[in-house]
Amino acid sequence: MRTLRITISNKLMIVCVCNAIREEKVREAARTGACTVGQAYARCGTKAKCGSCLPFARAIINEERAALAANPPAVAA
Ligand code: FES
Repeated sequence: MRTLRITISNKLMIVCVCNAIREEKVREAARTGACTVGQAYARCGTKAKCGSCLPFARAIINEERAALAANPPAVAA
């Protein structure tokens, strides 16, 4: 499967062209508990359409979840 990436700037990289979802939105969704692309896109109020973005979105989510597992946030007492 071909992955389409369109870069506007580092902060505005579009992950999903069909839904205009930026990389930062996918990262934020993963950091706040989304484990799958479907969950991340649902937090953006949408769902995957053509599917071209799925491998890239999945990689971003996996990267964020690995970073969280390696460095979990402090829990307030
Ligand atoms: S690019 Fe994300 S569903 Fe088409």
